Amino acid sequence: MKKLIVANWKMYGNATKIQADLTAYLQNNLTNSPNVILALPSPYLGLVHEILQQNENNKISLAAQDVTKFQEPGAYTGEVSAQMLKDVGIDYVIVGHSERRVFFHETVHTLAKKLDAVIREGMVPIFCCGEEKHVRNAGDYLKILEEQLQVLHLVEVPIKEIVIAYEPVWAVGTGVTPTIEAISEVMNLINGFVQNYLPHAKITTLYGGSVNSSNAKKILEIEGNHGVLVGGASLNVNEFSKICSYV
Ligand code: PGA
Repeated sequence: MKKLIVANWKMYGNATKIQADLTAYLQNNLTNSPNVILALPSPYLGLVHEILQQNENNKISLAAQDVTKFQEPGAYTGEVSAQMLKDVGIDYVIVGHSERRVFFHETVHTLAKKLDAVIREGMVPIFCCGEEKHVRNAGDYLKILEEQLQVLHLVEVPIKEIVIAYEPVWAVGTGVTPTIEAISEVMNLINGFVQNYLPHAKITTLYGGSVNSSNAKKILEIEGNHGVLVGGASLNVNEFSKICSYV
């Protein structure tokens, strides 16, 4: 299985940076890789989709960083629906990132509805799970992670394909990463959970949290881990291109 590299730009960047970075990616043939997904801020997704479409060899996919839980059009000022994302050419949607759980208080039921909405539109969710530092220190992390994965039981539509990213909250944006053994332990948990619960689904696991060009290679080599979700380092063209060169 070829590894997957996802760039999560979060709320960074602007039209000028996106144009410049895409030009660089087109020049160094990064866009020929079917294993690269860019999760850009939503106002730019449609524009970037059009630019990428003009390059007939393009294989990069786009992801949204979030979606509303509401499945029918309605008076929900500020919300962006799964139908809209699909309409502008999006293939993947991040659901349950720890920044959304913390800053927007997303509950398990909200996450289940979002997963449902994404799958109904034929897109693939990139579902994030991860424990906080105090949970890791207390040794309860496997139990908490399994509880986070239980949200999959609440999704009403059949899950045929899903990306599950392990993103320990204490590693996101901190420059600290777990040991290879610690990532491996969680990958075993995730793979075991989904093999049990979704034996026929296509599952891709990712690790995310302070991934950069120096640590990505080793993380990508972990058995049972199928890729990386890159935040800060994906904003730097050279860093991100280097990480992509490992797959
Ligand atoms: P980071 O972010 O690589 O900057 O730690 C990862 C993420 O939040 O997806």
